[in-house]
Amino acid sequence: MTKSAAQTPQEHTSTGTLSAGAPFQYADGAEVILHTIFQRDDFDEQRTWMEYNWWPLSYHLSPARANIVSWLPADRDGLHVLEVGAGCGAITSYLCRVPAVGRVVAVEGAPQRAELLRLRCRHAPHLEVVTANIEDYHPPEPFDAILLIGVLEYAGRYIARPDAASHLINLLCRWLRPDGRLVIAIENPIGHKYLAGYREDHYGVPFESVSGYPDYNGIRTFDKGLLQSKLEDAGLHCQLWFYPFPDYKMPDVILAENSFSEPGFDWLTLLNLPTVDYSLRQRPLFNEREFLRMIARNAPPSAFMNSFLVIASRQPMPKEWESILAVKIRSQCAPPFRQTKFFLKEDDRITVETTRGEWLNRPAPIHLHSDYREPYYQHLKNIEHLFIDSLWHRRYAEAASALLRWYATLLARVVPEGYHDYNERFRAFCVQRLGRAPYTPTTQWLPPDSLDLTPRNCLLNEKGGEVTVIDLEWDVGIPLPLDLVVDRGMLYLVQKVSDFFGTDLLNRRGEWNLPRALLSRLPAQLRKGKVADIHLFEYWFQLAILHGGFDYRLSEQDRRAASTNTGLSRRSWFARLLRRLGDASRSPGVIGASLRRLRKITGV
Ligand SMILES: C[S@@+](CC[C@H](N)C(=O)[O-])C[C@H]1O[C@@H](n2cnc3c(N)ncnc32)[C@H](O)[C@@H]1O
Repeated sequence: MTKSAAQTPQEHTSTGTLSAGAPFQYADGAEVILHTIFQRDDFDEQRTWMEYNWWPLSYHLSPARANIVSWLPADRDGLHVLEVGAGCGAITSYLCRVPAVGRVVAVEGAPQRAELLRLRCRHAPHLEVVTANIEDYHPPEPFDAILLIGVLEYAGRYIARPDAASHLINLLCRWLRPDGRLVIAIENPIGHKYLAGYREDHYGVPFESVSGYPDYNGIRTFDKGLLQSKLEDAGLHCQLWFYPFPDYKMPDVILAENSFSEPGFDWLTLLNLPTVDYSLRQRPLFNEREFLRMIARNAPPSAFMNSFLVIASRQPMPKEWESILAVKIRSQCAPPFRQTKFFLKEDDRITVETTRGEWLNRPAPIHLHSDYREPYYQHLKNIEHLFIDSLWHRRYAEAASALLRWYATLLARVVPEGYHDYNERFRAFCVQRLGRAPYTPTTQWLPPDSLDLTPRNCLLNEKGGEVTVIDLEWDVGIPLPLDLVVDRGMLYLVQKVSDFFGTDLLNRRGEWNLPRALLSRLPAQLRKGKVADIHLFEYWFQLAILHGGFDYRLSEQDRRAASTNTGLSRRSWFARLLRRLGDASRSPGVIGASLRRLRKITGV
């Protein structure tokens, strides 16, 4: 197998395992830029990440990094936490803000990274940063929790012992309080994305882990069976297994083991498939949704999920944790718009508890913090997924019929006539924020909370045909033209189609880019969208969520950016951006140098 020139930010620069006395080396290339960022007086964990739309920097800065641990309800106060291999502080900086955490020790082997940690978390008096190989660290007292987030896979590289990973787990176990917990997040070598041909995160080549690491260089991940037995051997018999999706680095959904065996719980639809590739350069070789559905009929799908989060202890874990079936987290937006949604099994029913703002490991019980509670609708079919599944199997009549159910739901909500000033109000709203007023004049209006009435928020009862609407989260405070809401729903749907089918254009010859046999079954309002208008509106909406308010106004530059991606799939739009970056990075000066560095990191 040949190594790709492309480096993921995970790949580091040292080669071979660490020999005695050799300096500890680990770097992913983002360190110099991070140093400049953390030095800024205005560096702000909540806001600065928005300025960097690049995976290598997002990996270190995004609030979504903390999603891996942020949702766990705290069951005690004054927690004493050890983070092993804390890197550049993505998780550490979060831990330092959690009220239930009394003290954090962050051990990092690479001196440059430990320095970055100190700089980043300079305002946290309860953090101690230790520059050391974890083997050489001797804690003065035991811990309530020890975190290994993306670190166990490096054991063979930095710990010169046979079965270094087991050695590390055993060592850490000795530092746990009797009821302390070891928290491990790691990729699964046989996760569905790797089976579908995605490059192995550390080696940059496909099928490296699936083939048992033929190029082994000290770094390797562990399948579920192997990791489970390592933990058992260390005496950690109580284990809770979770499955972060798309991976443990920036999960937006975390499934619990119980989710797979809960009748009527549609865990598969919670996964925003196909798995996102952060560089947007890869597509899966097969339909992961069909694959996982098939696996689930034959064996527990947990063995094939992309990543693991394991919490292991000598003593049983809080009962409340076991009631969690899944968690869905939105954190890549302004703090007031962040949200954590728990799917809980209580007695004999499943409820969905939504909390706005950051969860920050609030104490149990979960429902005390809930802003919104709704029942979980078992046995209903999500219209977006029904549509994609039907399209995949070329059942166009079925796909069209699902879409028409959604359309009928929208039409049923059209407000009665008599609201003559809507055109004026909507026009004024848009001119102020978007610079122009699309979709007016019109006569068909929907209530202000209809913006998110997309196919993915509509559940169909296939027997009776009724539609249940969920998750109408956004209310921009003004009635909306029906055309706009239709176009937004179709945009989301066609983007999903392009992700599954690899199509590059969202619209063709003035119609959405869908098979003719399907389009011919749809009314004109669904077939044709105002692509430029909906892109502009959506661009404004996304920036408004990012910046924290619906009074956000697009700048001239925003408007230009909105028009460049009009009509292109996410992949093609990104490919164009990379080409532009390629040109800019050939220019001299500071910006050119930074871009050259970024190109090196991303391998573009
Ligand atoms: C993939 S990074 C993860 C960083 C951080 N946990 C995060 O999630 O952002 C792995 C980090 O673990 C550190 N590391 C790996 N093995 C280590 C060891 N034996 N002792 C100390 N640090 C280690 C590396 O230097 C690197 O910074």
